[in-house]
Amino acid sequence: MIVAIDGPAASGKSTVAKALATRIGMHYLDTGAMYRSIAFAALEQGVPLHDESAMGELARGVRIEFAYAGDASIATTVLLDGVDITAEIRTPRIDEAVSAAARTPEVRAAMVDRQREIASCTDTVMEGRDIGTVVFPHAEVKVFLTASADERARRRHSELAEHGDDTAADRVREGMERRDLADSSRKTAPLKPADDAIRLDTTGMSVDDVVDTIATYVADAR
Ligand code: DC
Repeated sequence: MIVAIDGPAASGKSTVAKALATRIGMHYLDTGAMYRSIAFAALEQGVPLHDESAMGELARGVRIEFAYAGDASIATTVLLDGVDITAEIRTPRIDEAVSAAARTPEVRAAMVDRQREIASCTDTVMEGRDIGTVVFPHAEVKVFLTASADERARRRHSELAEHGDDTAADRVREGMERRDLADSSRKTAPLKPADDAIRLDTTGMSVDDVVDTIATYVADAR
C-alpha cells in the first residue's frame, strides 16, 4: 500500500508522514532527501545545476539509499554511494540549490524510478511534491497538505532555530516562498494536488489531529 503525502514546504508533511508511518507500521520515505542528495552531489563534484544533461548523468550514476534500524519506520541515515550525508543535505547551501536540481526532467525520471523501486518491497508512506500525481498516481491514499504562508514560515523558522540556524524570520519566509514558486511553476511534475487527493489545511491543527485524520483514510482504504 502507498500513502502519498504531498504539499508545499513546511506544510507539516514530514512531521505528519513520520508520525503516521510509525503509527500504522509502514516505512516512511522522504523523497525531498533524494533531490537534496543530488543537489549535494552536484555541488561536491562541481556539476553546474543548470546543465541538464550533466545533471541527468549524475542522477543516473549515483546510488541513494536509506538505512532503517531494525523494523523502524523511519530511516536514520541517507547514503550517497555508501557515504552518510544525512546532516549535509539539511544545510542552507542545499536549501538554495535543491529546486534547480529538482527541476531537471532527467533528474526527476531517475529519482522516480528509484522511489518506485524502494517502495516496491514494502508498504510506504511517501512524502514529496509529485507522489500522488506522478510517482504513484494509483496510490491507495493521497493527501495534499497545506497551511497558511504565515504558519508555514513560522514552522520552518522554529525548525531551523532548533538546529542552531539563526536565519531571520523574513529571510526564511522569502526563501520558502521562492522555493514553492520554483516548485509549482516548473514544467515537469510541478507541485500541485492530484485531482483525487484529499486536501487538508493544517493551519491551527495539532500534529496528532492531522495524523488521526489521515489514519482514518488509511483504515478506510485497507
Ligand atoms: O521536502 P524538501 O524541502 O526536503 O524538498 C526539497 C526540494 O525537492 C524542494 O525544492 C522540492 C523538491 N522535491 C520535488 O521536487 N519533488 C519531490 N517529490 C520532493 C521534493
